[in-house]
Amino acid sequence: MWTELDAMSGDARVRPISGLFDADATRAEGFSVETDGVLFDYSKTSMDVDGRVALLALAEAAGVAEKRASMFAGAAINETEGRAVLHTALRALDADAIIVDGENVLPEVAATRARMSTFARAVRDGSFGRITDVVNIGIGGSDLGPLMAVLALAPYHDGPKCHFISNVDGGDLTDTLAGLDPASTMFIVASKTFTTQETLLNAKSALAWAGGTSALGRFVAISTAVEKCAEFGIPAERVFGFEDWVGGRNSMWGPIGFAIMLAIGPDAFESFLRGAQSMDQHFQNAEFGQNMPVMLALTGIWNQQVCGHPTRAVLPYEQRLSRLPAYLQQLEMESNGKSVALDGSPLDRVAGPIVWGEPGTNGQHAFYQLIHQGRQVVPCEFLIGAEGHEPELMAHHRALVANCLAQSEALLRGRTEDEARAQLVEKGVAGAKLDQLAKHRVFSGNRPSTTLLYPRLTPYVLGQIVALYEHRVFVEGVIYGINSFDQWGVELGKELAGGLVPAVEGQDVPEGTSASTVRLLEKIRHHRDR
Ligand code: F6P
Repeated sequence: MWTELDAMSGDARVRPISGLFDADATRAEGFSVETDGVLFDYSKTSMDVDGRVALLALAEAAGVAEKRASMFAGAAINETEGRAVLHTALRALDADAIIVDGENVLPEVAATRARMSTFARAVRDGSFGRITDVVNIGIGGSDLGPLMAVLALAPYHDGPKCHFISNVDGGDLTDTLAGLDPASTMFIVASKTFTTQETLLNAKSALAWAGGTSALGRFVAISTAVEKCAEFGIPAERVFGFEDWVGGRNSMWGPIGFAIMLAIGPDAFESFLRGAQSMDQHFQNAEFGQNMPVMLALTGIWNQQVCGHPTRAVLPYEQRLSRLPAYLQQLEMESNGKSVALDGSPLDRVAGPIVWGEPGTNGQHAFYQLIHQGRQVVPCEFLIGAEGHEPELMAHHRALVANCLAQSEALLRGRTEDEARAQLVEKGVAGAKLDQLAKHRVFSGNRPSTTLLYPRLTPYVLGQIVALYEHRVFVEGVIYGINSFDQWGVELGKELAGGLVPAVEGQDVPEGTSASTVRLLEKIRHHRDR
């Protein structure tokens, strides 16, 4: 499957991207995909026509179309956990039926959403009681999605103020609750399994802060484990359930997104779902070469597998998307950071890049030095809205857009030593100083980037963007032949942490613990005892 692409590797790494533009006046258009107002431009990469043909053949050979059909139809493609993968059912607003185990799941999905909406309206209009603040307690998929989306949609907030506690570090709880009034604060305990150590500990401590069991009336649970919520003291009428075919990192479209619904209201939340549905339909229907999630995935594979760049920077030029990189870290790295194929055989290549990033323009003043002049090449994924939400601050948005475009230009073009020298000469620098400085002011250029351009970050557009990334991760996983929907890699650390809690409390260290950890425990106890 990979032979042809592997053979392209040598040329692809050194090919001048600007030469591709010189050779093809239509490259900007030809190497981009548009759907429903969103544009993905991958022309500033070293992918050429032959490369794209080989990548598309790879996607065909890997069975992306068949697997896509299986996923949308509710087949149990999460084979290691024996589950369907149907987060798309949560936003299939215009579909008639999706059958799992012989049953249409859509009526239940719609009924739960209707219950959420009724309850959200009661909280928002005050009929549930005076709620000024809502605190979502969850971690991983039960935190990152809603948190990212609540921050992203700040201009649409017209409900209670939403806060998030995730870390088991008591500092997170303390700082988040500081200044809140227990009498008007509602808690959402969000945990698919309702067994997650961090979330349960935070929920217990939050309940104590709120006044103990008498405050349970202001606690809501989001979980697949309704009976465990009841054990905690949250009655069924305030539990919003979902099925095990919704994976944690894909769950914000249903009850896990309740904080989003409270913040922006049920109607705007529906618009968020509609945006995702639009991307789902595009993903299902567009031919691969014009299919945005497929081309986003293939561009990533080109950069990582063919050009050999192990990381990918996500750079939203949108401060409100500040948590998008963290959200994508879970989505991509928990899904595709695997070493074995579906059948358990070892992979012969590294699947899934390391994802990192920060919003522009802040990142420019932090790590862009390495991106422009470091020896390791970092493919950059820029995101930018054509419009902002602050018409009174138009100059800011213009500067933001200019910076975003300038960065991808700079990465592409670079600056030669001759150009650097000419600039310095113009500034009056000469002699040895000129020789010395010119070398430091060279930019190799020819560094790949992509740009995702959207009209404006509305709930609908955010839905499109997130669904785009979800499907990209799916396509990558199919091509690598892995199960993108389990996460066994998080288990070992959890198990060992459970065993170490007594040791931290002062009891015996579990057998088999390394000398390093034993010594660290001793030092911790020593500090504590002083
Ligand atoms: O530890 C990883 C993980 O299982 C994630 O996949 C999940 O999103 C997170 O923990 C939280 O799980 P839960 O929603 O069950 O508390």
